[in-house]
Amino acid sequence: MRGGGPPTGADWVSRDAWKGRDVISILDFSRGELESLFKAADAFVGPPRPRKDLADRIIATAFFEPSTRTRLSFTTAALRLGAKVIDLSPDVSSILKGESLHDTTMMLEGYSDLIVMRHPSEGAALLAAELSSVPVVNGGDGSQHHPTQAMLDLFTVRRLKGRIDGLTYAVLGDNRYARSATSFLYGLTKFKPKMVHIVSPETLSPRAEVVKQLKGLGLRFELGSDLEKVIGAADVLYLTRIQKERFPDPNEYEKVKGSYKLTKEVLAKGKGGLIVLHPLPRSTELPYDVDSAKAAAYMTQAHLAVPLRMALLLKVAGGGEA
Ligand code: NCD
Repeated sequence: MRGGGPPTGADWVSRDAWKGRDVISILDFSRGELESLFKAADAFVGPPRPRKDLADRIIATAFFEPSTRTRLSFTTAALRLGAKVIDLSPDVSSILKGESLHDTTMMLEGYSDLIVMRHPSEGAALLAAELSSVPVVNGGDGSQHHPTQAMLDLFTVRRLKGRIDGLTYAVLGDNRYARSATSFLYGLTKFKPKMVHIVSPETLSPRAEVVKQLKGLGLRFELGSDLEKVIGAADVLYLTRIQKERFPDPNEYEKVKGSYKLTKEVLAKGKGGLIVLHPLPRSTELPYDVDSAKAAAYMTQAHLAVPLRMALLLKVAGGGEA
């Protein structure tokens, strides 16, 4: 938010400062702030009761990339809180006439009270936040951040496993380009996992700057490429598809496509209480026959997006009551 930014001094450490805040990276939020978000979201789980908290607010969704869950769960969350929603569809907007991200953002800030933005370019939401006088929520910027997905993923772990601390995580898949995996790992740095196994085909292991960041933040993790070695220890298996659209060279995608898959046989080697999360959409890495396994938690995860995003909208765009 233009002229915004985090509060300074001791306040920043102790206060739950969500109101009016941009949501660009999960790294910008403290453990206490995340916990307070999860607590607020708990109240919205279950049969929906119509609310009027945001009746005088207009939420703008601006998705410059395909989306099903993020856009629709934000929209549902806003509507359930009584807000109105306007949607910028890039394929029928002046973006087709060459309108800049700058000018589009200037329009959205004039028409709405909060902007949810997804964009293929890394840093797009941050740029919009610097320009905008209303808060900007990053719905995914290139392969960089997807903060609200990570909040949702941690919220799902907390609801299904009762805690986030002390668990063993396996993060399997495209850990190079999947922003959801990177943001989940960043989110875990706010908690105290027992161990995080980052499992990927060699060319899809996390980028050097991400590894450096995770080390700097003190996350206990190890890099590997064999799920079968670690699945027996895992409490949570976080799976992502290969992000075909982000490969700079299609030949590199061809080399790695189909290189990992969670079969029912592999899943059977997991512990009793294991849960499998996936931000969806899925590709070949998650066969449909896994859906009937007790561990399959990705549909619950997708549905928890509404209560989590209701709590987030209320905290950022509400009167400060959340
Ligand atoms: C993810 C995304 O867009 O980053 N989807 C989502 O928001 N649930 C994951 C993906 O596209 O693979």
